[in-house]
Amino acid sequence: MSLQLGDTAPDFTAETTLGEIRFHDWLGDGWGVLFSHPKDYTPVCTTELGYTARLKDEFAARGVKVIGLSVDGIEDHRGWQKDIEETQSCSVEFPMIADPDMKVAELYGMIHPNASDRFTVRSVFIIDPKKKVRLTMNYPASTGRNFNEILRVIDSLQLTDGHKVATPVNWQQGEDVIIVPAVSNEDAARLFPDGWNEIRPYLRTVPQPKK
Ligand code: BEZ
Repeated sequence: MSLQLGDTAPDFTAETTLGEIRFHDWLGDGWGVLFSHPKDYTPVCTTELGYTARLKDEFAARGVKVIGLSVDGIEDHRGWQKDIEETQSCSVEFPMIADPDMKVAELYGMIHPNASDRFTVRSVFIIDPKKKVRLTMNYPASTGRNFNEILRVIDSLQLTDGHKVATPVNWQQGEDVIIVPAVSNEDAARLFPDGWNEIRPYLRTVPQPKK
């Protein structure tokens, strides 16, 4: 069965563009994003990796380490990295896992045989500091992912881990959030002393709490 939300992210040792890593050690105490792409030297992947590299400060501000993967070898990764940097005006400072024997890809269910038995799909895993999988996402090879959405989910997870709130449709940083249904009005009065907007008894919104 594929990895599900709340599962522990499997540990592994792998060769990367920044040397060999043991995944859990590399993650340390922070958040991580592991994402796969189908193949080196392909156009959509090139734009995704370039954009991710340019988001370096955004990931760092959230305490998130990023790591890519494809089932190509380390020499291809190194050569392609140069192309990404030249064509996407960036410096790729995060590691890319070389997984030619598909060991990590199989562990994380990144091979979807009915889509392709040779290449990984575009998978994303957001992993929290307890090494729990908090988001999984699979995109087809022909559709580049929205990495701003990945940042948005991280913002939501980090906020909702610290407060008894959830984030509504299309929520963006700074917008109102929802008091979770498990919080009674009595408890809400203590947690949100400035009050809330009760649209329905089950739909109560408050300004976004500070992280
Ligand atoms: C790409 O990254 O451009 C790509 C990879 C596999 C299939 C289609 C597109």
